[in-house]
Amino acid sequence: MWRYREALPVCLEENAVTFCEGFTPLLEVPIGRRSALIKQDHLFPTGSYKDRGASLMISVLKEHGVKEIVEDSSGNAGCSVAAYAARAGIDCEIFVPSDTSKSKLAQIAAYGARLNLVPGSREDTAAAVLKAAASKCYASHSYNPLFFHGTKTFAFEVTEQLGWRRPDVVVLPAGNGTLLLGAYIGFNELLDAGVISSIPKIIAVQARNCSPLARSYEERLEKVSFVETQPTIAEGIAIAKPIRGNQILKAVRDSGGDFVTVEETEIDSAYREMAKMGFFIELTSAAVIAGLKKYAVLSDDAEVVVSVFTGHGLKTAGKGAS
Ligand SMILES: Cc1ncc(COP(=O)(O)O)c(C=O)c1O
Repeated sequence: MWRYREALPVCLEENAVTFCEGFTPLLEVPIGRRSALIKQDHLFPTGSYKDRGASLMISVLKEHGVKEIVEDSSGNAGCSVAAYAARAGIDCEIFVPSDTSKSKLAQIAAYGARLNLVPGSREDTAAAVLKAAASKCYASHSYNPLFFHGTKTFAFEVTEQLGWRRPDVVVLPAGNGTLLLGAYIGFNELLDAGVISSIPKIIAVQARNCSPLARSYEERLEKVSFVETQPTIAEGIAIAKPIRGNQILKAVRDSGGDFVTVEETEIDSAYREMAKMGFFIELTSAAVIAGLKKYAVLSDDAEVVVSVFTGHGLKTAGKGAS
């Protein structure tokens, strides 16, 4: 992803904290009656697209001489931040909900980060980290804009891989919107630079059990109205109160896109279907593919539709789907 360094806010190249990540393959995958192009972002060094954001954010923090950070996560952002902090020699403490997948906890601990398991909801974890952030740098993947300037490279890569043409549609997860808002920034930067003449339609996917954004969008609200939620096997998008929720609604609306919600059974069958084709992805990623399948039913055959495998299946192996 550092091939786009002129568009990334790091002053000195030697401050880039990198494992040579990015430029993941864009593979054609059959989805229902058509096919879609799917970015293989589960192949990143820590097994998820969050490395795009962590690589840039930790690089800038390193450049500013930050020595200690705290972060909260449903798992994958914690893995990424812990790995890049380890590479940068920055002391790291990660707060996670206590029911986070064991393999993600093991991964965070293996990188040498201190783990803080918080009982209760994802929102309880967010509240706990804010206390720690009173005295340490809060390297947050949802508040810190640098993270989104890392995930914007998704849009650059897709456009470059299509021969500097934008797709017609991108189908993306909507939890805290770290990929969706990053992609929105990236496509808008390409638009401002005159590389593309409009941005693609963004189709945002939420699990029906936790869908505050989809419901607010359906009601044509400009601000997210928070609704009661149920547990979902798609832990990465189990976000009842997304802090950038209003921005996500605006980005989807501005792109001419829409929201799709998926049931737990649909997530489970997308997971199995992808695995049968040889793609081992995590359950949250399967939720996106379940949304893509729903979108594909209505889509125009001529549309170039791009989506993403966000996380590797080894992260949630044995959890949820069997
Ligand atoms: C595997 C995976 N997919 C998708 C998401 C969705 O997150 P966001 O909406 O913040 O991009 C996450 C978040 O943790 C995740 O871990």
